[in-house]
Amino acid sequence: MRTKHLALLAGLGLVLGAQYSLAADPLLLEARQSAKALGGKLKGEVMKSMKAKGPVGTIDFCSKRAPKIAEEVSEQTGWQVGRTSLKYRNPGNKPDTWELAVLESFEQRKAAGEPAKTLEHGEVVAENGKKVYRYMKAIPTGKPCLSCHGEKLKPEVAAALDQLYPGDNARGFKLGDIRGAFTLSKEL
Ligand code: HEC
Repeated sequence: MRTKHLALLAGLGLVLGAQYSLAADPLLLEARQSAKALGGKLKGEVMKSMKAKGPVGTIDFCSKRAPKIAEEVSEQTGWQVGRTSLKYRNPGNKPDTWELAVLESFEQRKAAGEPAKTLEHGEVVAENGKKVYRYMKAIPTGKPCLSCHGEKLKPEVAAALDQLYPGDNARGFKLGDIRGAFTLSKEL
């Protein structure tokens, strides 16, 4: 009788343990938090600059500050953080093979009905003989993004972008489209 109870308890513990680890994978939680830190900082600073200087003034800010903010958040969190996209503006944000596959899977999942703002993917991958945890979270196109990533840009905005990014691909987005994704990694 007693052993039966014990076995039952152990079984229950296993089931609960498995569920708990699924729900609270510490790497996933950490990655989510670091992506949030990057997103929050970027959005806060961009909106402040948009209010003060408008879109043309903010383009310069984005081109200089966005990569710096990513560096700062990488230092603070211990995660390599950045942004990427199928249609990128900064050639430095070009997706690698893994990122490309995840971005394409996000488009498929969105087409199948998942909301863009909850799309995420994390997994352990092997890179150069090392184990790396990689994580991506989709970034939906919001209204404030359209002045620099939308279908109809003001001529002065388009001109400023042309000058800084001659090969710019990050235009023509509509509200709710996946603009790109946060991309994070950490060596295990
Ligand atoms: C004032 C113009 C401006 C606004 C507004 C703006 N962006 Fe950008 N965005 C840029 C510039 C310039 C870059 C390239 C800078 C970089 O990351 O190196 C960029 C890059 C990006 C990237 C990285 C991938 C790429 O294309 O190089 C993402 C993702 C992105 N923006 C999303 C957004 C989202 C989402 C919003 C709205 C919340 C937004 N942007 C609003 C100008 C803007």
